[in-house]
Parts: sequence; structure tokens; C-alpha cells
Amino acid sequence: MTRVAVIGAGPCGLSQLHAFASDPQSSAEVVCYEKQDDWGGLWNYSWRTGLDEHGEPCHASMYRYLWSNGPKECLEFADYGFEEHFGRPIASFPPREVLYDYIVGRANRSGFRDQIRFNHAVRRVSRNSGGGFTIAAHDLARDCDVSDDYDYVVVASGHFSTPNMPHYPGYETFGGTLMHAHDFRDAAQFAGRTVLVIGSSYSAEDVASQLWKYGARSVVCSSRSGPMGFDWPDGITERPILTHIEGRTVHFADGTTADVDAIVSCTGYLHHFPFMDDELRLVTTNRLATSDLYRGVVFVPDNRVMYLGMQDQWYTFNMFDAQAWYARDVILGRIELPDAAEQARWVSEYQALEDQVADDYGLIDFQGAYTQDLVDQTDYPDFNTPLVNKMFKDWKKHKKQSIIGYRDNGHTSPLTGTVAPIHHTAWSEALDDSLESYLADSA
Ligand SMILES: Cc1cc2nc3c(=O)[nH]c(=O)nc-3n(C[C@H](O)[C@H](O)[C@H](O)COP(=O)(O)OP(=O)(O)OC[C@H]3O[C@@H](n4cnc5c(N)ncnc54)[C@H](O)[C@@H]3O)c2cc1C
Ligand SMILES: NC(=O)c1ccc[n+]([C@@H]2O[C@H](COP(=O)([O-])OP(=O)(O)OC[C@H]3O[C@@H](n4cnc5c(N)ncnc54)[C@H](OP(=O)(O)O)[C@@H]3O)[C@@H](O)[C@H]2O)c1
Repeated sequence: MTRVAVIGAGPCGLSQLHAFASDPQSSAEVVCYEKQDDWGGLWNYSWRTGLDEHGEPCHASMYRYLWSNGPKECLEFADYGFEEHFGRPIASFPPREVLYDYIVGRANRSGFRDQIRFNHAVRRVSRNSGGGFTIAAHDLARDCDVSDDYDYVVVASGHFSTPNMPHYPGYETFGGTLMHAHDFRDAAQFAGRTVLVIGSSYSAEDVASQLWKYGARSVVCSSRSGPMGFDWPDGITERPILTHIEGRTVHFADGTTADVDAIVSCTGYLHHFPFMDDELRLVTTNRLATSDLYRGVVFVPDNRVMYLGMQDQWYTFNMFDAQAWYARDVILGRIELPDAAEQARWVSEYQALEDQVADDYGLIDFQGAYTQDLVDQTDYPDFNTPLVNKMFKDWKKHKKQSIIGYRDNGHTSPLTGTVAPIHHTAWSEALDDSLESYLADSA
């Protein structure tokens, strides 16, 4: 029997387990290793920062009050809709706990929980003399090493957990709070304070918005590749990149300064797979066309290793599903792969295509076409990627109109065609992010 190891029980790992569980023809034995004590990956909130209760690097990067930053309709599982899960239409930008409930709802229905070895941190994946792979893991609950052999390995350990933390001169003697977004947990902690946010991507825009919403005195955003350019509310301003810090005074490239109490470095994450042997380790930057992955999934140097969700992400859960279906069908021998030279050619041509894309609208279409291509090669249900692409573009326009108000819009389910109701409270005033509050009919 074919033995498959899945590393990580976040959305990608759960997609992989679900793909196998959904296939009555599959006789593969699938085992998942998850270092946390529960599933859901980043969506499984933890208050911890630094090291977890076992001394492992804390995986969590999500914070309290985090609401989906994209429309839920754009990530809806094609075989398990939001209306099916919640029993009625709900608004388009759920808080973390609501999305967690949705992810777990499908996993529970699929019934593969007993295939997951929780509290197991994978330490090493290496080729063995039998032609397969040996996975060495640490059973954190029992504090002992375990090891097992597999024919295939699916790496689903995420890539938004190991901080990219650039140094700026003066950090050493900065007297305030200094953290990476990975360790940001509660915006209310900064009420009444002035905060510098470094970066110009999703974490920067959302952390700045959160700080404003939960009462920071002022937020100064600093970026190296131009301003985010949103129509910010009073209290949020943008500056060029900082050059250095003296005490609590930040100096920017245009010669201006600002005195701040705290710095949140929203400078992204590293693809980090310390547990993979050198010849099996993916090395790529955060882009749509990753290096070394044929069809964005199959590791070119060794086709028995797959990586899921390693792209930068417009599409998420439904793309992870499409990748998991594709990986499953490669493993089961239903999809024939071309030779290594052809795979490498595909990767470089695909990267060249991405490099030619002019703007974010083009990148949305690019990832939509990628996802559609995987759907077309498997029996994952078709879910109308043109509509999803359009909704991503509408969402981008809404953000341009109002970075604080874009979540107060309703989008269309690609499964049911239902237009989502508008949430009972505007995002900027909804301080309670609980599931009960979100699903209530009124505030
Ligand atoms: C702050 C933040 C907010 C986000 N918000 C959104 C959003 O609103 N909408 C959206 O669609 N996406 C969002 N994302 C993107 C997010 O990456 C995906 O939604 C999704 O969580 C990716 O799933 P994954 O399974 O690839 O990785 P993860 O969710 O990171 O899960 C990986 C799992 O692997 C486990 N693991 C790691 N290493 C090991 C090991 N050595 N041994 C065993 N287990 C291991 C981890 O414990 C974890 O459970 C957000 C990301 C961040 C950082
Ligand atoms: N639900 C939510 O509300 C929410 C909130 C936060 C994050 N997220 C998700 O989290 C994921 C990660 O987003 P992210 O913003 O953390 O990472 P990211 O998209 O990779 O962006 C990294 C940012 O760091 C900047 N940067 C990198 N090195 C730098 C340096 N040396 N100096 C200054 N700036 C530097 C980059 O600037 P350049 O552009 O110049 O390279 C970029 O702006 C995304 O999937 C996002 O959707 C979601």
C-alpha cells in the first residue's frame, strides 16, 4: 500500500487529507504530522509568542480582532459552501473564529482526524535505502523521538510563520516596544501610543488599520517601495523608509523624523523548511510562480515530494484544494508527469510569464488561471474562477475607495449565487470579533 506523509494540519494539510478521504478509489495510507495540539494552522489562534509550551517556535501569526482581508466568497471550498455550513447566508468578511469554524466544519464531516498525529514536530525528512523517505519526528506530549517510512511526502507547513526581520540602525538602543507582525496579538495594547509600522503589504495595511481602530494615538507607516496610497483616516500617515533610529526618534529617507513608542515590523516571512534534507528543501521567494515546483505542487528534483500553498496568495482555500486534488492524483498515478527537463522548462516559462504581468489585476487573473488549470485536470468541482477573479478586482477597488470601509460590502457566492448580506455593524465600529457577535442578527 502507498504510504503518504503530510506535514502540517493547517488549511493545506486538511485539504490533502480531505482530497484522499473524498476519493473512494484511494487505497493510500495517509498520516499527518502536526506540531500543535489541534488543527487549523494559522487559523488556530494562540496567545503565545516566541516559543510554545514545548519550547518549539510558536507557529501562530494571527492576532485578536483579525477579520478576513479578502471576501470569503473568493476562498469558498467548492464542495462545502458557507451557506451549507452556517445554514444561511452570512456577511463577506468573517473574523478569524468564524473562518476557523468553517474550516473545521468540513474537516469534521470528512472524518480523518484520527489520521493526524498531533503534538508531533517533524524534525527530519530524508531519503532512505528502501527507495522511500524516513520521517523523524518528536512526540512532544510524550517527549520521545519517533520515526516512520513513507513513499510520498506532502509538505503543508505554511510559509507565513518565520519572520523576515530586517535590521535598522538604532534598534539596539530603541527604548520602546519592538516586534515583528508575527508576534503582534492585540492592537488594544497600543491604545494611546504612537506606533511605527514598517512595510507596505497586507500586514502593514491591516495592522495600521487595527491600531487605529483600537485607539492608538497615531500610526506612522514607512515603506521602501512607495506608499500604500490609501485614503487613510486621520491618525494614520505614510512616510518613506526609515534610515535609522536615535532613542525613540525615527529618521526617514526624506529627512523627516517621528517620535514613536513602538515599532511593528510588517516585513513578511521566510519560506523555512529546516526539517527537509538539503536535496528535498524548497528554496523560493514569495511569488505566484514558485521556483522548483511543477504546476506549483510537484518538487522538480524529486517528484515524490509535493509542496502545497507555497505561492503568494490571492486565492487560498479553494486553490489549496485544487493543489491537494492534483497531488493526490499524481500520487495515485492518475496524472502522468513529464520528464524532469520538461518540468524545469514549465517552471521557468511560468516564472517568465509572471514577470510580464503588469499589475495586481493581471496577477489575480494569473492565479485564477493557475487554479482553473488544476481544477481542469482533476475531479475537484469547477467553481467559476472568472467570477472569483472579478470579485478580487472589485475588492481591490473597494479598498482603494476606503481601506477602513471595504469590508462593509457583500460579494457573490460562486457556489450558490447568493449575494452576502451586509454585516450588522460597520467593521470600523465592530470591536467584538466573536463568532456569536458576527452571526447575530444585530449588534
Ligand atoms: C496574519 C495572517 C492573516 C491571514 N489572513 C488571511 C485571510 O484573511 N484570508 C486568507 O485566505 N488567508 C489569510 N492568510 C493566509 C494563510 O497563509 C492561509 O489562509 C492559510 O493559513 C495557509 O495554510 P497552510 O496550511 O499553508 O499553512 P498554515 O496555516 O501556516 O499551517 C501550517 C501547519 O503546519 C504545522 N507545522 C509547521 N511546521 C511543522 C513541523 N515541523 N512539524 C509538524 N507540523 C508543522 C503548523 O503548526 C501549522 O498547523 C493569513 C496569513 C497571515 C500570516
Ligand atoms: N486577514 C488579514 O487581515 C491579514 C492581515 C495580515 C496579513 N495577512 C496575510 O498574511 C500574508 C503575509 O502578508 P505580509 O504583509 O506579512 O507579507 P508580504 O505580503 O510578503 O509583504 C512583506 C512586506 O515587507 C516589506 N519588506 C520586506 N523586507 C523589507 C525591508 N528590509 N525593509 C522594509 N520593508 C521590507 C515588503 O516590501 P517590498 O514591497 O518593498 O518588498 C512588503 O511590503 C498575506 O497572505 C496576507 O494576506 C492577512
